[in-house]
Amino acid sequence: MSEVQEQTATVEETKYTRNNPYFSTVTTNYLLSGKGSDKETRHVAFSLEEGMTYTPGDSIGVNPEHRAEAVAEVLAALGFTGDERVLDHYKVEISFEEALRARLAIGKLARGSVGQYAKLPGAASVGGRGFAELKGLTGPENKAAAEEYCWGREFIDLITDFPGAVKNPQELFNVLPRLTPRLYSIASSQALHPDTAETSIAVVRYEGHGRKRQGVCSGELGERAPVGATLPVFLHSNQNFRLPEDISAPVIMVGPGTGVAPFRGFLEERQAKGESGDNWLFFGDQHRATDFLYEEQFTTMLKDGTLTRLDTAFSRDQAQKIYVQDRMRENAAELYAWLECGAYFYVCGDATQMAKSVELALLDAIAAGANGTPERAAEYLAGMKKQKRYQRDIY
Ligand SMILES: Cc1cc2nc3c(=O)[nH]c(=O)nc-3n(C[C@H](O)[C@H](O)[C@H](O)COP(=O)(O)OP(=O)(O)OC[C@H]3O[C@@H](n4cnc5c(N)ncnc54)[C@H](O)[C@@H]3O)c2cc1C
Ligand SMILES: NC(=O)c1ccc[n+]([C@@H]2O[C@H](COP(=O)([O-])OP(=O)(O)OC[C@H]3O[C@@H](n4cnc5c(N)ncnc54)[C@H](OP(=O)(O)O)[C@@H]3O)[C@@H](O)[C@H]2O)c1
Repeated sequence: MSEVQEQTATVEETKYTRNNPYFSTVTTNYLLSGKGSDKETRHVAFSLEEGMTYTPGDSIGVNPEHRAEAVAEVLAALGFTGDERVLDHYKVEISFEEALRARLAIGKLARGSVGQYAKLPGAASVGGRGFAELKGLTGPENKAAAEEYCWGREFIDLITDFPGAVKNPQELFNVLPRLTPRLYSIASSQALHPDTAETSIAVVRYEGHGRKRQGVCSGELGERAPVGATLPVFLHSNQNFRLPEDISAPVIMVGPGTGVAPFRGFLEERQAKGESGDNWLFFGDQHRATDFLYEEQFTTMLKDGTLTRLDTAFSRDQAQKIYVQDRMRENAAELYAWLECGAYFYVCGDATQMAKSVELALLDAIAAGANGTPERAAEYLAGMKKQKRYQRDIY
């Protein structure tokens, strides 16, 4: 093989994707949140093969599997053994058990699944709450009722409430969505950890309609991925979430909860490479005593100058909630001064509420600093976006 061919082969071999994942070994998996926390946030590291490279801001995809008990429950409710043969999405023959474990989403119930279930040939004769009630959860006119039914429920609830519609295991490929990979922000720099991608995982657990539920992938990482376990993963690049090319540019990072993950990666990178720009981190979570993720590392970084400023917002340590955006507002003048010095502004974490509130606080800081109107602040922010100085990774 020529040198060029050899190089091409190496690049291709390391191009793992969701359909051609790398079987990574879990090298670290420990609880980040402290004893007594209401939350379970874990630090999980995945081994990488030589040639698998990432840049801070990227994420790692994990192809999850449902837990054995959940699969067994569905099989029992449907009256199948799991040994039945089915064709997967690529028409490859697999066992029904494998289909339920690794291909079909039997976790949180989608409205579309209820609609498809009601269309099965066997649906008209369902038992339990009966076909009329099932039909009342389908169609655009029943959207609200279907959404309400789906909230906090899983596929097992549907087949328990309306049993008997599935006559043939293959039918489920028309009912259930594909089980998709979950992405996790990489919380490390390869300059410090050449062989691993580290992550901060919030394990999703809740109770719905009398059953204890858990997130498919975070539950797997929390309960069934001890050190030494292997999991199918792939690296996922995000060119829109990057440290500035100018190593002297200041950086402001807002990352409550697991939103802090990529910023640990950013800070490790800047530290390892001796990048001179100032770094300001806003972190928030429920309680300082139990939920200050990476407290020791961030405190050390503050002492050694890697972090210029660290502002924390522990929402439940006092009667009134305090969030990261409140800390931004308290420091609005300095925040604006950083922006005027060319600071890049990053946000990571919850998309539904937090990111919007942080943007409002940012706009207010700009308006106050520039003695300007809201319109002027919006223009300023648009300018920052154009210069890639306002970047978000929200989910
Ligand atoms: C780019 C990107 C980066 C991400 N980075 C991280 C990260 O660094 N760390 C991290 O932990 N996550 C991260 N996530 C989220 C992660 O990908 C998963 O979505 C998350 O772990 C949940 O997946 P799951 O399979 O465990 O849960 P699922 O099985 O998908 O279940 C989650 C669903 O459960 C339902 N649910 C949750 N709580 C309740 C409740 N109380 N009542 C009723 N229903 C409820 C909701 O419908 C929710 O969507 C990221 C996502 C993206 C897109
Ligand atoms: N879809 C949603 O509604 C939703 C909401 C939150 C998180 N999530 C997801 O849950 C996963 C885990 O999150 P996590 O446990 O790491 O952190 P998190 O639930 O986002 O909580 C981190 C901190 O953010 C605070 N917070 C809550 N609402 C906020 C808001 N509007 N503005 C600013 N801060 C706010 C929380 O305070 P309090 O909890 O005390 O209010 C907590 O102190 C992530 O995948 C995240 O996207 C989803």
